[in-house]
Amino acid sequence: MGLGAATAMTSAFAADKKSDSHSRPSARELINRPGTLVIAHRGLPEAFPENSVPAFQAALEYKPDFIELDYRHSSDGIPIVIHDEKLDRTTDSFTRFGLKDVLIGTKTAAQLAELDAGTWFGAQFAGTPLPTLDASLDAILAGSCCMVERKDGDAKTCVELLKRKRVEDRVIVQAFDWDYIRNVRKLNADIVTGLLGKGPLDAAKIAEAKEIGSEVVGWADKDLQLEAIAAAQAAGLKVWCWTVNQPERAQQLAAAGLNGLITNRADVARKWLGRS
Ligand code: G3P
Ligand code: CA
Repeated sequence: MGLGAATAMTSAFAADKKSDSHSRPSARELINRPGTLVIAHRGLPEAFPENSVPAFQAALEYKPDFIELDYRHSSDGIPIVIHDEKLDRTTDSFTRFGLKDVLIGTKTAAQLAELDAGTWFGAQFAGTPLPTLDASLDAILAGSCCMVERKDGDAKTCVELLKRKRVEDRVIVQAFDWDYIRNVRKLNADIVTGLLGKGPLDAAKIAEAKEIGSEVVGWADKDLQLEAIAAAQAAGLKVWCWTVNQPERAQQLAAAGLNGLITNRADVARKWLGRS
């Protein structure tokens, strides 16, 4: 990373010193800051069960700009924070239900609340529940902003939840399903949104993102060419990248002007980027 880039990053984040709840920046203010934001992917997933309240609370200690989570709907339409469509990998679903490959969308929120989503990661996390989106927002927004990644579920439910909690200005809602983001924007164009993608970030994708009106594109690290960052930015987009866990790559992307680094290593990412 060049000295100029490092200096710009450090000075651009002087506002990080603001920490009390009244001076916390909005999501829109954050995405428009110069420098590279840190987004804690699934909390702190190398040390805590991913997408759990303990993982989010642990991530807060390292002052990420956003904490990312994934949500899907229960059978009764409650947004639940979990990455996979099936419950097997991160819960004791097999033990509880006696079946493999149980889909989250076939169980009620009450049934899902009984699951243990911690023991798969470590015995010390036994009894950690699958959190709702509602409870996760409470934990994350106590000290950061939230990147809400929708894996499944309609836009109206999410937008209404954010409205009821009065946290529309503290989140960025992202999805691979760009039609979902169109619907979020139809319901509330003031919510900051991001379009997730993979493959080439080319002129057609940039044009579609502009037509939708999202401020951010979040692209797969393996597919993100450095030149594409400048091309998207020239069109007025911010570019985030997932999931970057190596300091050399983080610094390369930051020097190329990346706006947001989505990482499993929020515990060290600020140091990689020259931020205090
Ligand atoms: O931030 C986007 C990234 O989380 C998408 O990938 O599979 O980890 O949700 P995934
Ligand atoms: Ca995700």
